[in-house]
Amino acid sequence: MAFSDRRLRAILDEVNARVFADIGCDHGYIAVGALVEGRAEKVYAADISEKSLAKAVVLAREKGVFDRLVPVVSDGFERIPERVDSAVIAGLGGLETIKILENAEKQYKVPETLIMCPHQHAKELRAYLGAYRIDKDYIVRSGGKYYPVIVARRGGEGYSADEVMFGKNTPPGGDFIDMILSRRRTLEERFSAREMPPNVKREYEEILGICSKYKTRYP
Ligand SMILES: C[S@@+](CC[C@H](N)C(=O)[O-])C[C@H]1O[C@@H](n2cnc3c(N)ncnc32)[C@H](O)[C@@H]1O
Repeated sequence: MAFSDRRLRAILDEVNARVFADIGCDHGYIAVGALVEGRAEKVYAADISEKSLAKAVVLAREKGVFDRLVPVVSDGFERIPERVDSAVIAGLGGLETIKILENAEKQYKVPETLIMCPHQHAKELRAYLGAYRIDKDYIVRSGGKYYPVIVARRGGEGYSADEVMFGKNTPPGGDFIDMILSRRRTLEERFSAREMPPNVKREYEEILGICSKYKTRYP
């Protein structure tokens, strides 16, 4: 499926499953795209809102893949009747994503692979993923905003302390450095070094550390 939205394109490119779920599917681009592009055989399109879910159903009919799409009104994985191989949780906040994962743990429904793209509170989500192996954590710039894409599976050690705020940049990408430089510029315009509140100072120091780490590759 053709996407002008780089965020949706990046997320969909990560999908490779037999049974897949799109949690918080809304418009259904990821759920339907996974079927249209042969990235999954069966897809649960799940949304807590019946009205949102209806959009995914319309799109699946339009694209001729409704026979392999299972629409479910569900809070997270709650009403999905099986443990899927892989799931996307995108466009929700990190805190909501954590809640969904905590409930999935209780129901033994955490899939083998999770693809997450929190629109805020990514730091909190990274801190929560301590028992996960992080296969990828990179930044995609789309519509003038920077989005983290995290691909994780159970059984790992999560992030080191200096990766929690901005992620691992794995695989390495220019959008990560653009984000760091843009944030550095914003902080430098807003605060002089002496005026920075302690939490901003911590963030700024992390940014300087990242700039120095990448300076050979990104002059
Ligand atoms: C901003 S849209 C994101 C749509 C799409 N996933 C994307 O990334 O473009 C968020 C959707 O998540 C749904 N949602 C919010 N909380 C949810 C939850 N706990 N379980 C399932 N869906 C949820 C909302 O109804 C809404 O349709």
